Amino acid sequence: MYQIEDVRHVIADLTNSSLVVSPWLAYVGGRVRFDSYISDMLYWGTRDFTQAHWRREYLAPAFDTLPVHSRFPRTAVFETAASTAAFLAYEQTGRSTVTERHATDALHVTENFILQHGFDYFLSAYVMLTMYENHNALNYYGQMREADFLSGRLHRPWIDYELDDELILSRVLGTTELFIDSGERFVRLTDKGRDRLADYYALLKETGYLDKRNRSLRISHFSEMEDYDSVVQQIAPTAADLRQSFLDFTAIQPGMRVLEIGCGSGAFTFDAGLVDLVGPTGSVVATDPAPRMLERAMMKRDPHDVPWLDFVQAPAEDLPFPDGSFDAVVNMLAIHLTDIPAAVKEMHRVLKPGGIMASFHPLDFPMTNSIIKEWFRPISSLVEQPKRETTMPARSTVPDAVAPYFENVICQEASTPNYYTNPDIVTRFYLESVGLFDDHLMRIPWVERTRLIEDTRNNGRRLCSIHTTEELTVEYPVQLVRGVAKDFTVSRNGRA
Ligand SMILES: C[S@@+](CC[C@H](N)C(=O)[O-])C[C@H]1O[C@@H](n2cnc3c(N)ncnc32)[C@H](O)[C@@H]1O
Repeated sequence: MYQIEDVRHVIADLTNSSLVVSPWLAYVGGRVRFDSYISDMLYWGTRDFTQAHWRREYLAPAFDTLPVHSRFPRTAVFETAASTAAFLAYEQTGRSTVTERHATDALHVTENFILQHGFDYFLSAYVMLTMYENHNALNYYGQMREADFLSGRLHRPWIDYELDDELILSRVLGTTELFIDSGERFVRLTDKGRDRLADYYALLKETGYLDKRNRSLRISHFSEMEDYDSVVQQIAPTAADLRQSFLDFTAIQPGMRVLEIGCGSGAFTFDAGLVDLVGPTGSVVATDPAPRMLERAMMKRDPHDVPWLDFVQAPAEDLPFPDGSFDAVVNMLAIHLTDIPAAVKEMHRVLKPGGIMASFHPLDFPMTNSIIKEWFRPISSLVEQPKRETTMPARSTVPDAVAPYFENVICQEASTPNYYTNPDIVTRFYLESVGLFDDHLMRIPWVERTRLIEDTRNNGRRLCSIHTTEELTVEYPVQLVRGVAKDFTVSRNGRA
């Protein structure tokens, strides 16, 4: 049997690829739509590939010659290709309709990944990821009806097949057991299953798999937020003033070549006046990974009126621009949603030496405010001692991340009033899009997660009915950071 360490590099590569094994993300925008000929294409494509490349002897190292049905590798390839197709469709169009091109691309990336890593290693990684989902749910619930486990009703509601192969495998591996209670069959974890779950969790956390999944979920929630501008207006009515003072803070000058990260619906790009300030002698490239957020920004102003503006879909961690392309890189309320060290490194890479980096982001805050504490109690009470109160950066997070790459760094702090007066908007914005409690929600099975979010909304409704607007106003800490890109081509003694 492969040891967990042996698949570490496969999980790490999978995290950095566009492969999707567990399609949480595709579920956000509603059920994925596959026309029957697309399903057939994926079915026959993955069947032919499996027949050509799977060898029975692969079972030996992967599963210790366990009696795994031959449909298992086929299911793994099909599920991965289909989930990846759904992910590509959503990523590229912001919609869940899978076209022939998405299916063909998904088949290619899946097959290339398997050929590169070996079918047995791919299957081991697939098993680890699905076992993690299954074991995590069993651990959360303590026990599950066998029928619920098999249908995935509570923890993998997107599947349309039975998890019997996975149950057999976990039973043979000794990580789950069946028992009868009042004439009903139940499944639960064994001690070995709990140990394995801890190992799986540690590996998925270390390789960044779980964090990437959360980031992808947040991006798709932003994409789904049709009413983004009015949500921000209701929660933070001073946002327009903040954007204005941030524009002054950036020290951007007319004629500069500027990159904006996480432009969203274009509130900083247009409403705060970034594009006008830069003017036709310079240029602005506004980026965001959420396809429908970019659509909203594009609708705000006809690009023909501002030929010095371009929109590019991209996450901050992977910017599709050559080194040294910009005079300034700015982000307003976006860096806290990224893998901060990776995003800072990318910002430095695309800046010319001496170029400006400026960020405006919220900070973590202690849960001392009674409204916030009470509002999020259904979730914050889940974990005894979270590493940090929320997923917002600590005061030192961004300054520490920029220090190796930027000099003359200036940090300012302020606070801004946020209004907790609309239960639906607050819950949607903070829990789903911003992911304020993702560290807490990360280990909650999908259906339970949905229920907890609903409980939080109801809690908010109750609070709104008994408190005044003044009581429902909360001061949020924010941080402004600006620095100048260090020139790594110049050695310490100043010579190139
Ligand atoms: C709170 S909105 C801010 C939008 C805009 N800058 C403003 O001031 O209103 C955050 C934006 O960051 C984007 N975002 C999320 N994850 C990101 C990532 N990894 N890289 C870059 N942007 C990201 C979201 O899609 C969203 O549009």
